Formats: sequence, structure tokens, C-alpha cells
Amino acid sequence: MSSLPLNPGIQYDAERRIWALVTEQSMYAFGVTEENFLLHLHWGGRLHAFSDLSAATLPPERSSLDPALTSSAEEYPPFGGLRYGELAAMVTFADGTRDLDLRFHTVEMGERNGLPTLTVLLQDAIYPLEVRLYYSLDVDNDLIIRSTSFSNTGLDLIALERAFSAMWHLPCQFAPRTLTTLAGQWLSEDQIQQRPLVAGTELIESRTGSTGAIHAPWFAISSSDHEYPGETYFGTLAWSGNWAIRIRTTIFSATAITGGIHDHDFRWELPANAVFETPEFVAGFVQKGMNAARHRLHRYAREHVLPQSHVHMPRPVLYNSWEATSFDVNEPGQRALAERAASLGVELFVVDDGWFQGRNDDHAGLGDWFHDTHKFPNGLTPLITSVHTLGMQFGIWIEPEMVNPDSELYRTHPDWIYHFPRRPRSESRNQLVLNIGREDVQHYLFETLNTLLAEHAIDFVKWDMNRPIAEPGWPEAQQKDHEARELWVRHTRGVYQLMDKLRAAHPHVSIEACSGGGSRADLGVLKRADQIWASDNTNPEARLFIQEGFSLFLPARTMGAWITDNRSRNTIPFSFSSHVAMLGALGIGGNLLHWTNEEMQEIAHWISVYKKIRHLVQDGQQSWLLSPHTHQGNLTAVQFTALDGKEAVVFAFRRQNVFQGHLPHLRLQQLDPTSRYSIRSYPYKDRETSTTLSGAALQQRGLEIALTHTPYDSTILHLHALQRDE
Ligand code: DGJ
Repeated sequence: MSSLPLNPGIQYDAERRIWALVTEQSMYAFGVTEENFLLHLHWGGRLHAFSDLSAATLPPERSSLDPALTSSAEEYPPFGGLRYGELAAMVTFADGTRDLDLRFHTVEMGERNGLPTLTVLLQDAIYPLEVRLYYSLDVDNDLIIRSTSFSNTGLDLIALERAFSAMWHLPCQFAPRTLTTLAGQWLSEDQIQQRPLVAGTELIESRTGSTGAIHAPWFAISSSDHEYPGETYFGTLAWSGNWAIRIRTTIFSATAITGGIHDHDFRWELPANAVFETPEFVAGFVQKGMNAARHRLHRYAREHVLPQSHVHMPRPVLYNSWEATSFDVNEPGQRALAERAASLGVELFVVDDGWFQGRNDDHAGLGDWFHDTHKFPNGLTPLITSVHTLGMQFGIWIEPEMVNPDSELYRTHPDWIYHFPRRPRSESRNQLVLNIGREDVQHYLFETLNTLLAEHAIDFVKWDMNRPIAEPGWPEAQQKDHEARELWVRHTRGVYQLMDKLRAAHPHVSIEACSGGGSRADLGVLKRADQIWASDNTNPEARLFIQEGFSLFLPARTMGAWITDNRSRNTIPFSFSSHVAMLGALGIGGNLLHWTNEEMQEIAHWISVYKKIRHLVQDGQQSWLLSPHTHQGNLTAVQFTALDGKEAVVFAFRRQNVFQGHLPHLRLQQLDPTSRYSIRSYPYKDRETSTTLSGAALQQRGLEIALTHTPYDSTILHLHALQRDE
């Protein structure tokens, strides 16, 4: 038994068949029993040596009603044998057997996505099914990235009925824990929900065919006990289709979490030699609370998920036409907006919905991705050239998965949508969903969008999806050797494939993922999208809540946030609305033709301030110091800090101050206690203020925030560590 210290990396105790995945500040371990079951051994803080772990053995049977396999923490429990806890996989073999018996076979060390990876091969004891569990390790970010593949090594078809990505186990703990999830709907995405973790099963899911807004594919479980402050387990799925995360806690405080592609209406047929691979389930453990969890996921997204061709460039300040012109898009109108936008310092001008054939409202046009000849009699190029001449990039809106019945595409191919032949085709926003799993649909969409991008100097695409999938029929599936229910997975894979192919053909183009606001926000789409439209709700007060939730799992550089005319009948000043939008990838969405010169000047000021601090917002570490959910004087505060702690920016917001109370000092984080920091504010019009304080004072006593009693006051403070002799 090894008593050598366990260093970061993948470690192995050959004698007792135990593997340890050691990160900077956490450790995950599992081992093989003598019956060859793969059992979880530890997830939490780092242990010193393998000798701190006992070998993997099945627990004694408590009673005939609590079988050993149910009470044991299996790494990937299938439906089979005496298992009644959470299950990761269910299959049906060709002879009708629905019992899966997975046993450990071998392991392999390798690399996936640039990260060290341990692959554990499990095999069914009798049937020709191999299941590979992948464990990649992000040592610096304390994360484990798990996924699973199923290989049919026999001749007969095997049907997968559930194929989750992973199973995670928390150590049993009688001290209370709190479960945090994100729930929402259109205009109210990513609302933080917290409740005590008690015995029972929690399900968060989407069954819309997309990531959805009802829940975000993320969870956190933190210790609510004073003895273990800050201990937090968290995880998120990298998948933009139907998904489920199930969190099950027993009366004896054993918590198991599993999830992946939803098993609702799921079936995948695996013919001989075929392989099915699940999406990734990323999870981690930290001892310093939600901000520490945030930092880990944000860094992981930047380093290992986001398109690396664009991640080192600042996200440009964009203008989007939607709230200003809706479908009333035409060349002179957009040109006038572009001129005003350029004068503000905007770097990317995006024409939203309404530019293509027959698109005067939401009844027609989707599917016909050609410019409307009435609105753009000379094509799109004159507008694009003007935008480029004004020094901005040009972006355009599309909704590739959709078709209006009133379109050339639908008139030509009414069979290209999901449908059951004898059922009505339910329209939503007057549109139907194209079956992207079909090769001919893929081909059409690639050719059409590729031509759009090849024939125009387009730099940015906003990719929308405004309705869920319904009547999920695929009448031709059997002739194509597909099971119709595969369409849920094939749809998401089809979207990914289309995005990947378009990106490969047009490497300079960046993509914004959108789904009626923030219904497609996840790490899966972020492998091919540079940013996400977080919500159609642009009211700054609502945005504070939405953005706090979004920031729990996705970084600020990916969060589209606009300054618009939606300011509660102008009771919210532009300064507050600008500061809220500056917490993400800043955009402008108001009708600039109606803004006064004074308003234009003010917004130009905030854009120029954003450009001074965006490296911190987009690439620094984001910490929410005060949540909008807390009621301390309605104060919200967010700090973005450079990785070396030498520079930071702090945003503070007060919505209302009905009690006219004093503000508490704001205690900052992650600064160097021994450095002195200059602290500079950027008020519009008033004189800039500047003071200095030590990192220790800023963190221990806190910063005095000068906010008035006026509703919706806010401020930005920019901190720089001074040289020792300054
Ligand atoms: C929904 C998006 O969230 C909006 O920003 C806008 O693009 C509309 N769709 C256009 O139809």
C-alpha cells in the first residue's frame, strides 16, 4: 500500500486497483472490487497518500430490501441486477434482455481535448457491449470532465434507452447541504433557486429539443454547515439538446448525481461495430464557495471550450437593430443607425431579423436565406460596405433550424420538417422545425448559408432558435436505418455539425448563439459559438438577476448584454443601464435615431470606459461580492480581477434605498494585501476621483462606495496596484 504523497495528475495504486485524479485543490478516487465492480471512493479535498483510502469493497447488505449494489457508490451503475438507486444506463439487447451487467476490464491513459485522460473499459459479462468511461483532468481548474461511449462489438443490434454521461457521488454527510439550480422562462432566464438538500430526487431538465430556459444544465451543492464553510460541488453539461440532471439523496445522506442526454423519448440503435458517444459532464469541488466554482468554470471555458481562434481577441462592442427596428429593416434605415452607432464607438453592427425574402413580420420568410429585394434592392453589399467604411464589422441574424409555411423552402419541401403524417403540424410563432438529422436538409442549409457568407463580407452571425420541437416524427427514418426517436440527438448534432462546417469554411466569422433570448446557453454550443444572447429581457434591473445566474456557469465574455430603451419608462438612468450591460460582452440595442445628443454623448462615454476595463471583464476572474438577491440596501456588487491580482474593476449598484441607510464598506477579494492600489472612478461629466488604499485595507476593512440615495445609482471603480516607489 503506497504511502507516497499523491501529486496532481492521474495516480494508480496497482496493488489495490485504485485510481486517484488529483487536481491542485481536490481529489477524486475510485477502485475495483474483487467482483470487478467499479466503486467510487472519494471526491473532495486532497488526501495525502493512497494509504488514506480503503480498497473498493461492496458494502455489507443492510437487509434484503437494501441490496449491496444499491447501497454502493458505483461509478456507472446500469439498469441490471439488484440496483434500485440512480442509474446511468439502460439497454435492450436483440434477444429482449434488458439487464446490463458491467464489469471492469482494463484502463488506458491518454489525452482528450489536450487534457490527461483515463479511460476505463467496462464490459458486459455476456453480451458484446463495451462501455468506456472517460475521465479527463483539468488540474489547474480542479475539474473532472467525464463522458461515456458505448460500442457494439457483436453482430446484433443493441438499443440504448438511457446513456447518461456520468454518475457523481458526494461523500455522505449528516451536516446540512444546500442545492442551487437555475430556473427560468423567456424573459426571466437563470434565476437562482436554493433549497435544502433532503432525501428524494431532484430533476432538472429540458425536453424542448434545445437547452431550454426552464432550467440551466448546471447545479451546485454547498455545505450549509458552519464547520465546512464554502465546500461546494458543482457541475454542468456540455449539451444543447434534451438533457436531464438527476440528484438523488437517501435518508442516510448519500447523494448521487447523474445526467446527460435526456432519456425522455430517447432511443439509439447501435448496429454492429457502431459507437455512441455522450456529451461531456464537467464537475468540480472547491472549498471557497460559489465564486471559486465560478472562476474554475470560466477559466475552463476560456482554455478548453471556446473557439480558440477568437478567444484571445476582445469581444467587440456591438450594435443590434432588433429593439430599434424589429422587422422594419431596410438599407437606408440600417445605414442611418450604423452611422450613429459608429459615432458612439461601436465595433460591430448587427442586422437582426427582417432582412430576408418576404420577412415583414413573423409569418413568412424563415428558410429563404436571401435578401429581401424590396428592402435591399441592391443586395446587402452596399450596406455591408458602408458599415465597413465606418470602421465596424458587419453581422447578420439567421434562424437556420426553422421554416415558415409561408416560404419558398416549405412550399418546395413540406416533408423536411418533424411531423407525424396523420397529426397536425403545431406552429409556434408561425414556424415549424426542420429535420436537421436529414442529410438533404443539412446539405441545403450548408449550401445556402455558405453562399450567404461566401458572397458577402459578413463577420458575425447571430444564430437564433425561437420555438421548441413538437410532434417529433421522422417518417422516413426506418428507410434510412434510423430509429425515429434518434432525432432529438441528431438535431443537436446536426446544429453542431452545421456550425462547425460553416466556421471551418469561414474561420474569421464569429457566432452568437441565441434561442428566443437565453434558451441555448451551455458549454456544448460554446465549442462553436463565441458568445450567447443571455435574455430578451434588457431591463437593467431584471438583468442583474439574470446575469448573476448566467455567471454561475458561463464567463462574462460570452454573455451578450445591451444598453437599450427598456429602462422602466426611463426611471432607470443610462448610467445604471450601461453599468449593468458592461458586466458582459457590451452591446447597444436602443433606437439611436431617437437618442438626444446628450444621450449619445453619455453612451459614447460608457463605451470608452468599457474599452478601458473590458480586458478585466472579459478575461479576469469574476466575483459577485453582493448578490441582487440580498436585501442589504438593495446593493449589488461585482468585482473582476486580473489573474495576477494587480488590477481590478468593481461595479456597485443600488436599486432603491427606501430606508436611506448607510452603505456598508465593500470588502474586495483576490488582491495583494501588501500592494497599494490606486482607485479611480469614471463618472460621466463629474470630475474623476482617485484615492489609494492597500490591498489589506480593501479586503479587511473594505471600500467606501459613494452612492447617493437616488434610486438606481451605480458606480465603477478601477484599481491598479502601484509600483512600490509610486
Ligand atoms: C429572439 C431573439 O432573442 C431576439 O434578440 C431577436 O433576434 C428575435 N428573436 C428576432 O426574431
